[in-house]
Amino acid sequence: MSSSLQGKHIVLGITGSIAAYKAAVLARLLIKCGAEVQIVITPAGKEFITPITLSAITSKPVISEFFSNRDGTWNSHVDLGLWADAMLVAPATAATIGKMAHGIADNMLVTTYLSARAQVFVAPAMDLDMFAHPSTTDNLEILRKRGNLIIEPASGELASHLVGKGRMEEPEKIVAVLEAFFNKKQILSGKRILITAGPTYEKIDPVRFIGNYSTGKMGVAIANELYRRGAQVDLVLGPSVEIPEEGINTVRVESAEEMLAACRKVVSWCHAAVFTAAVADYRPAERSDSKIKREQKGDMELLLKRNPDIAATLGQEKHEGQFFMGFSLETDRGLTEAKRKLEVKNFDAIVLNTLQDAGAGFGGNTNKVTLIDRSGLEDSFPLKSKTEVAADLADYLVRKLQ
Ligand code: C5P
Repeated sequence: MSSSLQGKHIVLGITGSIAAYKAAVLARLLIKCGAEVQIVITPAGKEFITPITLSAITSKPVISEFFSNRDGTWNSHVDLGLWADAMLVAPATAATIGKMAHGIADNMLVTTYLSARAQVFVAPAMDLDMFAHPSTTDNLEILRKRGNLIIEPASGELASHLVGKGRMEEPEKIVAVLEAFFNKKQILSGKRILITAGPTYEKIDPVRFIGNYSTGKMGVAIANELYRRGAQVDLVLGPSVEIPEEGINTVRVESAEEMLAACRKVVSWCHAAVFTAAVADYRPAERSDSKIKREQKGDMELLLKRNPDIAATLGQEKHEGQFFMGFSLETDRGLTEAKRKLEVKNFDAIVLNTLQDAGAGFGGNTNKVTLIDRSGLEDSFPLKSKTEVAADLADYLVRKLQ
């Protein structure tokens, strides 16, 4: 069977650790799997393994300096960052991990890291004291929060000899992590998924609107995650500053009516839909074309009309085999309300987030959700970053769409 690494572009970053010699084995294994490997080495890395050995393995010149030693041409870290399907830093020293965490781009490796758009993997290698130092653990936490994957030997394997903590994971296992990543990546290929996200703005006049505090972060994180796993994603996005992945078909809308119209264009072709948008329930009955002037005295009344319920409307028209997931943001009686909405909106699953839970709901980068479905599933997840919640929900959708 061919490896999921076949044809993949991997930037392999090597730093100044005694484990650098293992990077040669790593490069060879990646190439055996069919990957194209471009090595970027730090100046300290070259003290441990020579670029000649490495370039003989990858059949490409090893990059170390900002300028090529041979002809003085500039090595473009931006091009390299965009070329990469994955960047793997192995071995990663405490110094490089610190520089990556804080954007100290004083060498080609960290500069490339700052330009990389692809998934980054980091395999730390250092002695136990350095590994256990709060400075290192904090920096690794920063990388983790950013979505970088830290590859370490499983703790069980080290239990008998704690001194091994901090040693680099074996090259075979690192390659297996990358292969699993690319396998997962394509698992939704051929599936088309509609996602609504963000708030809606309902115009009162050219300068005023009715809106809500939704940022679109959760919905865009889900769209990105499903896209990275190979789905064709249609994202209908209300006013939001979030920037979805480039390959996502993003339609920007403002009002609930526009959102419904945009969804209708694609929904019948979709295998699944995820309704994360916080749609305004009402819109002004009349929209003034000119700015409404303030009255000299007295109050103002604004007549509101009910907006369409996008999820419920499309839920009633759902085809056989389509899987619809809704969201339910509650302040109280969360479970009861979520279960009611699962029924009335004809969802197959619903994700409950309760504003009573600290760190959950609008804004913020974290969320705490409970996933409920028609098979009786009621799965409560701990507080996680929205990216991690998106990965959990994507894992669930992958199971349901197979
Ligand atoms: O009824 P409630 O607004 O709490 O329902 C939340 C779910 O319904 C979410 O999935 C939301 O995206 C969807 N919804 C919608 N259109 C509306 C109101 C809610 O699609 N007008």
